[in-house]
Amino acid sequence: MKRTLIKGGRVIDPETGVNSVMDIVVEDGKITSIGKRKAQRSKAKTEVIEASGKIVTPGLIDMHVHLREPGHEYKETIETGCLAAAHGGFTTICCMPNTDPVNDNQSVTDYIVKKAKMAEGVRVHPVGAISRGLCGESLADFGELKATGVVALSDDGNPVMNAQLMRRALEYAKGFDLLVIAHCEDRNLTGDGVMNEGITATHLGLSGIPTAGETVMVARDIALCELTGTPLHIAHVSAEGSVRLIREAKARGLPVTAETAPHYFSLTEEAIANYDTNAKVHPPLRTTKDMDAIRMALADGTIDVIASDHAPHTSIEKDLEFDQAANGMIGLETSLPLSLQLVETGLISLDNLVAKMSINPARILNLTYIGLKPGNPADLTIIDPEKKFTVDTNTLRSKSRNTPFNGWELKGKAVLTMVGGKVVFKED
Ligand code: DOR
Repeated sequence: MKRTLIKGGRVIDPETGVNSVMDIVVEDGKITSIGKRKAQRSKAKTEVIEASGKIVTPGLIDMHVHLREPGHEYKETIETGCLAAAHGGFTTICCMPNTDPVNDNQSVTDYIVKKAKMAEGVRVHPVGAISRGLCGESLADFGELKATGVVALSDDGNPVMNAQLMRRALEYAKGFDLLVIAHCEDRNLTGDGVMNEGITATHLGLSGIPTAGETVMVARDIALCELTGTPLHIAHVSAEGSVRLIREAKARGLPVTAETAPHYFSLTEEAIANYDTNAKVHPPLRTTKDMDAIRMALADGTIDVIASDHAPHTSIEKDLEFDQAANGMIGLETSLPLSLQLVETGLISLDNLVAKMSINPARILNLTYIGLKPGNPADLTIIDPEKKFTVDTNTLRSKSRNTPFNGWELKGKAVLTMVGGKVVFKED
């Protein structure tokens, strides 16, 4: 029997509200006991992981990741994506369907599930497409997708422009108990825009994307959520107006949830001032006013989840004129450190941050929440809140390098990630 003692860490679990220094014993992949000073009183040989001064959390979940396999393995594979996730402290990730071929059918879902098992890394849950080919014209076969293992539906990267199709998607998804994740964008408004619309875009001579390009769709999808009664999750919220609509919908008791990504609370459109294509993302980075609204929404619970929207692209897609470059930035390895800044600055508590990266996404996705309890698989993350480091694209595990955070000095990161009792990442 393999026995591990995780000793003296501050254990935080948002399910039980626990936040105190404890020991955790892991035997054969499962937590067998948790409490104050779990002595090494056991005949079995015990490996000790010293965790004093560190934080031990349930395995973190990133519900919005692009793994690029099948089809764009030169940007990322399931294996390299899982490695990056483990290094970022994530034990579970959800991968978006905009692969090639699109994950709108059983064989692609099955391929992803099998490849993820072979990668032996973190737990991977595929998200299936709402519409066939992400074309927004006809619905994918939700029953087939669910039976093969998808945990949610989204056309992420593309909006479902046809409101009637979105209505049907919400109606059918309910029957299969599948969450619909909305990429809120009105293509008629976003047009050929490449950054946030406003004075900065004018100065840079770049075409703008108004915040209404997002808020119009958030409003529509909330209306469709109300019409159908199906839970709706709004992806990558970037704008103050969206926050207002979501807050109001929640106050009216609608089953609406929302996520944002670290770049929307860490950066503004100013990051584009030197035409850095690594800061080109969709929805675009916005103004300080929007960023502040996102922060407030995280603090007051309007935004339930922090997800990276890890979107790998290579220099082939990024070393181009700003107009031509692809949208997206990698985030698996910077998401937790950037989010920890919210705690450092006193905006949210550590417990609240952990909830937004573990129990909240699990509940929203209807996944079994793997908390720190005896009998549960040992999925956990050990964080060193004091560890200072500089983001260096040369040392990241993702296959791609497209991050605007290169060179940033951050404090706090994952130092060990355990999935089912197996250490999938340990800081040297
Ligand atoms: O910036 C983005 N990149 N936004 C999306 O919605 C899609 C993603 C991608 O797949 O690259």
